Amino acid sequence: MTILENRSLKACNTLGIEAKARYFAEISTEEEAIPLLTSLQPEHQPVLILGDGSNILFTENFPGTVIRINTKGITITEEQDDSLSIRIAAGEVWDEVVNYCVERGWGGIENLSLIPGRTGAAPIQNIGAYGAELKEVLQELEAVHLESGEKRTFSREECRFGYRESIFQTTLRRQYLILNVTLCLSRNPVLNLAYGSIAQELERSGIPSPTIKDVREMVCRIRRNKLPDPVVVGNAGSFFRNPVIRSDQFERLKLQYPDIVRFADSNGVKLAAAWLIDQCNWKGKRTGDAGVHPDQPLVLVNYGNATGLEILNLASMIRQSVFSRFGILLEPEVNIL
Ligand code: FAD
Ligand code: EPU
Repeated sequence: MTILENRSLKACNTLGIEAKARYFAEISTEEEAIPLLTSLQPEHQPVLILGDGSNILFTENFPGTVIRINTKGITITEEQDDSLSIRIAAGEVWDEVVNYCVERGWGGIENLSLIPGRTGAAPIQNIGAYGAELKEVLQELEAVHLESGEKRTFSREECRFGYRESIFQTTLRRQYLILNVTLCLSRNPVLNLAYGSIAQELERSGIPSPTIKDVREMVCRIRRNKLPDPVVVGNAGSFFRNPVIRSDQFERLKLQYPDIVRFADSNGVKLAAAWLIDQCNWKGKRTGDAGVHPDQPLVLVNYGNATGLEILNLASMIRQSVFSRFGILLEPEVNIL
């Protein structure tokens, strides 16, 4: 295996930030993972596992080894009359997996269409969109401990999934390389059409009995209209999580801001961070090449040559203004390095 030195990461993160990895390696088969990890010397530490870099902000050069995951393969591991389990290699592009499943009529991930990135990263923040989350279909995953090289299987419960959260972002943060993910999908899918924009799109399209393929197409259409394409302008999707607050705090805010936007959430009241940022007049603001998207203020963009610190500085100013107006501290969704 070749370990490159001082490799630029600009093409490896969708924000398009220039940063260098002191060492850089890519694995294309699962068998390469353990020998690589156990061969690393102290000077190669720390290790960063990278998919497509669609949820990462580099604020400085990475001093250790970046390992990019490019493993491939989708295998059926169990079959029942009404469901099946498939194991997907971490390096598979997530949206190609969604397409593969939808084409075969296997339901459960169609609402997660067009989310950028690789399959191995999907459990890290329990990807979610349009009323669905990965945790609903994830059966188990296999991972290798970065330090010891030991393999371990994590059940869905052991992953401790929450909204944009898993154990791999809390107690086991940056300790494991996820090798593959097993999903349990349905052969008789029940469509999940409750999310506002899907319901509207369905009404507009006039399709009488939609299939999972129709749902995928609707989600792709909504996303293309709403979110900037990183190929056109550098971004990492939502920069902040939507804040979840207590209902008494919400009631107080609602008295003052009757139009405040909230989502249904089992842990309290989830607010639309986009609305909070919009109220503070950040939409379309730009300092140098770092900007706030003109239509979706939760998305920070790199118009060309912004540095990671410039994006971070903009994020800090947004956080401060939302805090001083609403008393709510936005937490980043993007992994800041
Ligand atoms: P990376 O950015 O490369 O890595 C993200 C994190 O996962 C890092 O901490 C990295 O170290 C770790 N990691 C990656 N691979 C592995 C692995 N194999 N083992 C262990 N750790 C690993 N997210 C949503 O949830 N919903 C959305 O609707 C959504 N929309 C987006 C829209 C746009 C335009 C963009 C740019 C991003 C969006 N995202 C969304 C965020 C992003 O797509 C997801 O977080 C995705 O899962 C990241 O995949 P990646 O391969 O790019 O991961
Ligand atoms: N809004 C405004 N002003 C604006 C734009 C939006 O007030 O300029 C308000 C609107 O009221 C809108 C609300 O914000 O209804 C929420 O907007 P949207 O439906 O686009 O959802 P979001 O909260 O911005 C979340 C996820 C997305 C996911 C979509 C669809 C988070 C942090 N973001 O976005 O995920 O695709 O819902 O489910 O949960 C990501 O994680 O990177 C991501 C893009």
